[in-house]
Amino acid sequence: MADKTDKNGPSCEEEKSALQLLSEQYAAPFEAYLTEFSENPNDAIPPRLTESMLYSLRAGGKRLRPALCLAAAERCGIHPEKALPMAMSIEFMHTASLIHDDLPCMDDDDYRRNSPTNHKVFGECLALLAGDALMIWSLGYSLSRLAHLGIPNDRVVRAVNILSEAAGPVGMCGGQVLDTDRESQEPEKEFVYRIAGAKTAALIRAALVSGAMLGDIPDTTLQCYHNYGTHLGLAFQIVDDILDVTATREELGKTPKKDEAQNKMTFVSAYGLDEAKRLALEESEKAERSLEQLFPEGDLLMDLARSLAFRGN
Ligand code: IPE
Ligand code: IPE
Ligand code: MG
Ligand code: MG
Ligand code: MG
Repeated sequence: MADKTDKNGPSCEEEKSALQLLSEQYAAPFEAYLTEFSENPNDAIPPRLTESMLYSLRAGGKRLRPALCLAAAERCGIHPEKALPMAMSIEFMHTASLIHDDLPCMDDDDYRRNSPTNHKVFGECLALLAGDALMIWSLGYSLSRLAHLGIPNDRVVRAVNILSEAAGPVGMCGGQVLDTDRESQEPEKEFVYRIAGAKTAALIRAALVSGAMLGDIPDTTLQCYHNYGTHLGLAFQIVDDILDVTATREELGKTPKKDEAQNKMTFVSAYGLDEAKRLALEESEKAERSLEQLFPEGDLLMDLARSLAFRGN
């Protein structure tokens, strides 16, 4: 480890994790963009709907997906400022999925992002509609804005299409069905990979691929981001399942120990805690290796894969 003693005396600052570095570089500009967006609401939207959407959007969260989108865009030759609308579309979709995920008919959660869940504050009807509105807006939001920022139309349409597929019946919505509908579930323990691949990895992969796609890159590069996103997304959900068992409400900003109480099929219920930890590391190593060909000298995204396997929230 590097000597952290300088002429001003010993520094207490610990080495930052890749997740912290990613957050500083990409989540911070995204947060500024979101603040500007929230301070200029559209008068044509019913004010209570604006309030409900902004309540969940602004409650916080790690902003992992928008950060991944901006990081991929930058590595593919697009300045992060120009990719911000795409990052916003991704976070709209993700936040909407959380609002719906917390509803009584799904996971019935009352705490999210360190705050009461959307339906606890606004009621189920408005929460449902805020999720709907964010999902639909998510797709249109990028279209005109990215074109105005000089991204060629064909790339914009392809990127938005990637998001639409990742969120729809073969992606997040389909995955949420596999997660919640007993009749759709299969008994083999490997089935948890299908659930996680669709409900979580699809959107994480779309964040990366849609960002990368804004640049002028060959299909081989896109494939690397695609593979990286799949494995990173799986690792992310495995750790989410682990943290549900091991972390506290304060650490998570959401209620722990929900999965067993609701008899969910998770990596922990299927494989046990220790094996789940090993599988998280295995997926994060596969993610890291997916980018080796693009970055033989290493890259923050490669470090991030390992950092996510050990995240605490
Ligand atoms: C939670 O995602 C839902 C899953 C897919 C596991 P995050 O853990 O990224 O939630 P936020 O955005 O930080 O609140
Ligand atoms: C949710 O998975 C995945 C989504 C598509 C929102 P979980 O139900 O495990 O997410 P948390 O634990 O409530 O954040
Ligand atoms: Mg759920
Ligand atoms: Mg849930
Ligand atoms: Mg969970």
